[in-house]
Amino acid sequence: MAVEHLDEDRSVDLTAALARARSPRRPGHDTPAGTAVPAWPGPPRPIPGAGPADLDLRALLRLSLRASDRAGRLRPASSAGALHPVDTELVVGAGCSLPPGRYGYDPLRHRVHHLGPQPDGTPPGVTAELSVTARRTVSHYGHRAWPLLLLDTGHAAAALFLAARALGAGEPELRLHGAAESPLAAVRIPPPGPAHQLGATQSTQPSASAPTPEELLARRSTPPPLPGSPAPDALRAVLTTAARAGGGDLRWCAAVGSPLPGLMELAPDGTTLRRCAAGEARPTLAAWAAGQAWIADAGAVLLARGCPADADAPHIRRTHLQAGFAVHLAHVTARRHGLTARPVGSWQQADLGAALGATPGQDWIVHGLALGTLHADEENTA
Ligand SMILES: Cc1cc2nc3c(=O)[nH]c(=O)nc-3n(C[C@H](O)[C@H](O)[C@H](O)COP(=O)(O)O)c2cc1C
Repeated sequence: MAVEHLDEDRSVDLTAALARARSPRRPGHDTPAGTAVPAWPGPPRPIPGAGPADLDLRALLRLSLRASDRAGRLRPASSAGALHPVDTELVVGAGCSLPPGRYGYDPLRHRVHHLGPQPDGTPPGVTAELSVTARRTVSHYGHRAWPLLLLDTGHAAAALFLAARALGAGEPELRLHGAAESPLAAVRIPPPGPAHQLGATQSTQPSASAPTPEELLARRSTPPPLPGSPAPDALRAVLTTAARAGGGDLRWCAAVGSPLPGLMELAPDGTTLRRCAAGEARPTLAAWAAGQAWIADAGAVLLARGCPADADAPHIRRTHLQAGFAVHLAHVTARRHGLTARPVGSWQQADLGAALGATPGQDWIVHGLALGTLHADEENTA
């Protein structure tokens, strides 16, 4: 059962919406954001504890989407303006801590609402279907909202992906291909594998590279400023995470400052860093990112670029979903390497390709992650 969304959530001409968001026009006054949770029908139900062989949905949602404050702003997933426009329906199959069926999730109460039976052929595990209530983000960002809504959905998908890995669930399958308006994205998470069910310790335990639950709950966007140049190893790790997670349509680079200001990218060997452009880019990035002056002094800025001006709706959805997904993973990698980090998603006139002398309209900034160092941040706030 689908819940009614506002007209502004339906059938948006995304190519036109993206052109408007990229224009220099500023949004007007804030408008009402509406409710933070859809009006799911029926009574809220607690999510039961999991048996040893089950996928623990209570823990999965606590580590990914649950709000830990009453206002609903503090969550494991980041969100532009902390407006959290993403709504989640859970299609639950066998092997989960809820009986099979379709449910709406309430992240403020950490409860579910039963919406109906699961579709025929639902596989074991859970599929989280993500859609958006555009009004929440439109309330502050106005005509700049649509790229942010798509990026936010990618961040929410990444939060689910990381939570599944932290819990040692089966390998998540992502649907970020952008083909559909609703749901915009989906993450299917199988139950833990047979080895786990037999009580064995190998194979379905979280791998060494998996995040810990504590790490996911501690993730926050560092408040500006973000001083301190990341060490090359840390920058390489962040770029590698982003490039691996970020799909084939995007290119990734990082703007760095002195002593050799320019843009850095991964070399074709996938392991070394190389300069792809010389010159200080961060003040221009600050101007392009809604005039956020602090970006000019960030230690580095990871950038996802692509999505040409004439991209069709599936391409726009795909690139933005994948950019949000990859930046979220890069954010967690950055923290692991002792970096501070803050996503930057609102870009106007940010035609990076044209600025570097290539054909205009082809190579726009889609998303960013400002980076600094913890050490410099501590000195800065001392
Ligand atoms: C898609 C996206 C775009 C964002 N853009 C900006 C931005 O342009 N400037 C900024 O200061 N923070 C930005 N943020 C960070 C949010 O403000 C932050 O995630 C939110 O306040 C919640 O805080 P938290 O990440 O610490 O949970 C963005 C976050 C996301 C997910």
